[in-house]
Amino acid sequence: MCGIVGFVGNEDCVDMLIDGLSKLEYRGYDSAGIAVMDNKQIEVRKSKGRLADLTAKMEKEGRLKGTCGIGHTRWATHGEPSDINSHPHGNKRISIVHNGIIENYRDLKAFLIDQGYSFVSETDTEVVAKLLDYYYDGNPVDTIAKVIGEIRGSYALGILFRDFPDKIYAIRKDSPLIIGIAKNGNFIASDVPAILKYTKEYYLLEANEIATLTKDSVSVCDIHKNPIEKELNVADWDLDAAEKGGYEHFMLKEINEQPTAIKTTIAPRISEGMPYLEESGMTKEMLKGYNRIYIVACGTAMHAGLIGKYVIEKLAKVEVTVDIASEFRYRNPIITDKDLVILISQSGETADTLAALHLAKENGATTMSVVNVKGSSIARGSDIVVYTHAGPEISVASTKAYAVQLSIMYLLAFELAYAKEAISEEECRRLTKELQEIPDKIQDILVLKERCQFIASRLVNAESLLYIGRGLDYALSMEGSLKLKEISYIHSESYAAGELKHGTISLITEDMPVIAIATQENLFEKTLSNIKEVKSRGAKVTVICREGTKDDKTFANHLVTLPNMDDLMMPMLALVPMQYIAYYTAVLKGCDVDKPRNLAKSVTVE
Ligand code: F6R
Repeated sequence: MCGIVGFVGNEDCVDMLIDGLSKLEYRGYDSAGIAVMDNKQIEVRKSKGRLADLTAKMEKEGRLKGTCGIGHTRWATHGEPSDINSHPHGNKRISIVHNGIIENYRDLKAFLIDQGYSFVSETDTEVVAKLLDYYYDGNPVDTIAKVIGEIRGSYALGILFRDFPDKIYAIRKDSPLIIGIAKNGNFIASDVPAILKYTKEYYLLEANEIATLTKDSVSVCDIHKNPIEKELNVADWDLDAAEKGGYEHFMLKEINEQPTAIKTTIAPRISEGMPYLEESGMTKEMLKGYNRIYIVACGTAMHAGLIGKYVIEKLAKVEVTVDIASEFRYRNPIITDKDLVILISQSGETADTLAALHLAKENGATTMSVVNVKGSSIARGSDIVVYTHAGPEISVASTKAYAVQLSIMYLLAFELAYAKEAISEEECRRLTKELQEIPDKIQDILVLKERCQFIASRLVNAESLLYIGRGLDYALSMEGSLKLKEISYIHSESYAAGELKHGTISLITEDMPVIAIATQENLFEKTLSNIKEVKSRGAKVTVICREGTKDDKTFANHLVTLPNMDDLMMPMLALVPMQYIAYYTAVLKGCDVDKPRNLAKSVTVE
């Protein structure tokens, strides 16, 4: 989604804006622009395409200079990617950058046209810029407050007023925005990586708080101008965490960071060999008291929820419903104050997941979020937060965030099962110990990369392929399939292996490779029959299974074997070859692995 950076300080801001925007590239964008206050005039440069296109345009049209400016990367929603639709928008006296969607922009546009305004772009953002101009009375804070009273939707806004050449104004609601406090000046930014090079200290702006930044001060007030004291946060991510560190892509780096990410995430939640989620405020008494558990999330995070469902139901014997967040809110789910709604999100800003959280709260449920980004909207809005400690995930395709989400699902299942006396203390300890062994096991299987690279070379020309599995393997195969299609653009589908012969097997030819995940010992024989069904119909089959699986020379064209663990834990190992296969297929196809087309890292619109 769109990215915002702004700087006001003691030095020229142009390079800082471009550098900050480059750190937000991972969010996804298709155009970029900056506005800089130069000699009390607002100067704008913007361009369709990548940041390199913007800098090339600046070379041509003249480089901007100034110590106060705002910048933006746009992920098109209203209007195609184009120079005109790029941000900043505005006129000679007001310039804005915007992240989010203004839902009532059509009505506002009609109103402004009646007032004599004309529009050059198709964006909802230009409406906000013109509305600011319409209400402008010489006082930026009053003007912003009036505009906020008129607009509906989500927004993070960075605003320059020509009459206040050394100030940046900012406001947000349902779209993230932080204020970075550095030695040489102050920043606004959509996310921490944009400011890490200059500072780790930042304020989190709450909904409809208006911030005024000068080079040496930041003041925040509400829309009635009451001052607000902000608490200073210090990022525990360092700059290296947001750099590639010698890897070709962030995705590869993040796959390799999984052992550390899991270790860091589970360590504080295990006490004396037993799961311990109480540090988050979720006591055993609370945990076992809920009538129903919902897990609500999008994409990869939802897939983590599916594994959670299997594990919780198997161990704790508690029914769990997993919902895609964008469906949950419109299907009138039955939620009561006796239910627990778990929201999973890496970014903590996903619009549909956030809306599901609000719905759960309105209905009185206890809300618990599993979130990676500290202080994000979903974390702040939840009754209980369990932070995953994956560090910044920059690649659009989620890998390490998925691994840590899974580890929290396991801990939750162990704790709940033990609290409900569905498993003994001994069993709980055994499972917890297996989870603690996962980081080392993953470390060992990271060497599978060459095997997976070879398999990728066999898949690279496929037009479409099928993932199959049963039980936990099926849940995991959904994530494998998503990973492959989102970064390699090869169509793939994930299917419950036993369901194939009810229709989908008619697709099988020798041009339809199949990836079968068969790590579940109790289901192996059944999955093996399904593997044989597709292989005998010509499909080239890659099988991901355990070491020592019998018969393993003949049933697969390609085999990836994993160390033996409890069936329940196998997804935590099998995720690695699936990520590698997707990664190397995309690399071999020459795709932009970290920034796949049309995708955004943080999906802050519905
Ligand atoms: C896929 C991917 C997405 C996200 C989804 C939810 O690799 O990253 O499917 O998982 O957009 O995002 P978060 O976890 O930020 O809520």
